[in-house]
Amino acid sequence: MNSNASSPLASQAVAPVFWLTGLSGAGKSTLAEGASQHLFASGIKCILIDGDVLRAGLSSDLGFTAEDRAENVRRAAEIASLCANASIVTFVSLVSPFEVDRKRARQIVGDKFHEIFVDASFPVCSERDVKGLYKRAAEGKIPHFTGLDSPYERPRSAELVIDTMANDLKTCVDMLVNYAYQNGVGDRIHP
Ligand SMILES: Nc1ncnc2c1ncn2[C@@H]1O[C@H](COP(=O)(O)OP(=O)(O)OP(=O)(O)O)[C@@H](O)[C@H]1O
Ligand SMILES: [Mg+2]
Repeated sequence: MNSNASSPLASQAVAPVFWLTGLSGAGKSTLAEGASQHLFASGIKCILIDGDVLRAGLSSDLGFTAEDRAENVRRAAEIASLCANASIVTFVSLVSPFEVDRKRARQIVGDKFHEIFVDASFPVCSERDVKGLYKRAAEGKIPHFTGLDSPYERPRSAELVIDTMANDLKTCVDMLVNYAYQNGVGDRIHP
């Protein structure tokens, strides 16, 4: 028997998963937070699965090698799938730099997976340097830093690209919220 079919949640609609990928500092967390706050204010149940939170807890045993990043992405995808199956609109904000890992995440989540490329260049992210990571990486203090000594593979088949260099924050949040409403959010609001 399929374990999903035996679940009390089996009859509920599956919610979408919005998977935000991009360089550190591109704006993934900021946009996911902005969009989920907006939806939450409209009574829509959301969850944010954020890379920093994962790294602090569930994935605290992992480093930043390709293998460990793959495992981190797999864990995030499995959690996202569980949340989506429970009708919770799910935002994942994770650098997830490798195409093969994002493809696997798509396979784990299924049809409701939406890849969203939060696009900002290395120089722009380096200039923002929200967490001081770029400075430390330039000093050689962070091995496997994405964009420096570990590649970022730009998505080739993202459902949505949000350019956070060309658009201001509010415009970017609006783009994400509008996309969410056009792609399954709001279909399952229970009065
Ligand atoms: N148009 C924009 N959209 C989103 N963020 C923007 C925009 N313009 C400037 N920013 C700023 O860029 C920074 C993005 O930081 P944020 O923590 O969201 O990045 P991140 O992609 O989650 O990085 P990390 O992978 O390290 O967690 C914030 O300080 C935000 O205010
Ligand atoms: Mg973040």
